[in-house]
Amino acid sequence: MSDLEKAESILREYKQEHIIKLIEKLDEEKKNELVGQILKIDFNQIHELYENTKKQIEFKEKKIEPISYLDKAKLSEEQTKKFNDIGREIIEKGEYAVVTMAGGQGTRLGHTGPKGTFKLDVYGKGKYLFEILTENLKEANKLYKTTIPWYIMTSKENNDVTKEFLEKNNYFGYDKNYVTLFAQGELPLVNTEGKLLIGKDMKIKEASDGNGGVFASLASTGAIADMKQRNIKWIFIGGVDNAILKMADITLLGMAEQNKVQIASKSVVKANPHEKVGVFCKCNGTPKVIEYSELPEKMAEEVDNNGELKYGESHIMCNLFTIDAIEKVSKETLMYHSAFKKNSYIDENGKEIVPEEPNSYKFEAFIFDAFEFFDDIAILRGKREDDFAPVKNKEGVDSPKTAKELYEKYWERQKNK
Ligand code: UTP
Repeated sequence: MSDLEKAESILREYKQEHIIKLIEKLDEEKKNELVGQILKIDFNQIHELYENTKKQIEFKEKKIEPISYLDKAKLSEEQTKKFNDIGREIIEKGEYAVVTMAGGQGTRLGHTGPKGTFKLDVYGKGKYLFEILTENLKEANKLYKTTIPWYIMTSKENNDVTKEFLEKNNYFGYDKNYVTLFAQGELPLVNTEGKLLIGKDMKIKEASDGNGGVFASLASTGAIADMKQRNIKWIFIGGVDNAILKMADITLLGMAEQNKVQIASKSVVKANPHEKVGVFCKCNGTPKVIEYSELPEKMAEEVDNNGELKYGESHIMCNLFTIDAIEKVSKETLMYHSAFKKNSYIDENGKEIVPEEPNSYKFEAFIFDAFEFFDDIAILRGKREDDFAPVKNKEGVDSPKTAKELYEKYWERQKNK
């Protein structure tokens, strides 16, 4: 059987005949490219993921319990100093690296280009999100007299643009020998009928496989090996879209090392019991972030003896892993969640359709699903106004407008300290 026949047979088996029709119309080169792509895709996996979108997530008999955490604001001076000394020493010894996950599509923000190239309108002139992150790291380098190796996860789609952007801006002054870009894996997008979408390049449209793809791609691209060579022990993994994200928090790092855990995370307390954020808990004895949609209303409102929400610690994409922990998770399979998003595509007449409303499923693994592979996690509660200024939506909550205000207020407070 030729590759073309194999591809057509797979497409028939998985009811993707619209792609057979497309193949017939393509020139030899494009045809070969598409056939090559089809033979690499795991159609069975995509079929199962699509079928799962139609099922209710069953919340099996799970034992959900509150998880313990420390509140940074309530640590004694002595405790803070201890954690800080430990954390500082790790960074000063050059055993600390940072990973920025910048492979998302940023569909809600609607910015053309990688999210890190979005300019936040701060202080008149504005600053790109990548620029803000670089400033944060450069500040840490100055404090701890080192250069922290920085790994930036891109997607196959935005890797070249990201690289060009950083080159053009001279990495905002960061030593480029310490910056590594690596692209994450992809999965095809499917529409509500389970049909694969076709992109402008006449190939099956694929998109990055979620921020949980960070572990497998750190391994497959050789980034873990590179970290080992540099003698890295702890790795911070954060997003690209929090304008006041602290990527080198010595208190969190020292606490993680002192508690002898392999993973740690910064949280902020929920704005209200029904805020739509995932919160930390223990599920069947292991750490987990439970989605707001999965947390029963009664539990969401429960308070402890101090009047604090029992399930109030929200995950803000501010995580620490030991190198061993990253390696361990890279060998596991994380579950996939489906996100219903807007994705343009080429229709049967070759016309590009740009949808106004979500039209397709993107399958994503989430970084926090890695927590359940560990018995314990160190959680440090930070402060929303010091740690969390997300840029998610075009307007309203968690938008450039709110992030700008939080960013400027934060830096105003630092000046007056
Ligand atoms: P989000 O889940 O908020 O996704 O990403 P997003 O792509 O930025 O935005 P929407 O949902 O399409 O509007 C949280 C962090 O994880 C990264 C993002 O770049 C962001 O830093 N991410 C997300 C990846 O690196 N890869 C992915 O596949 C998804």
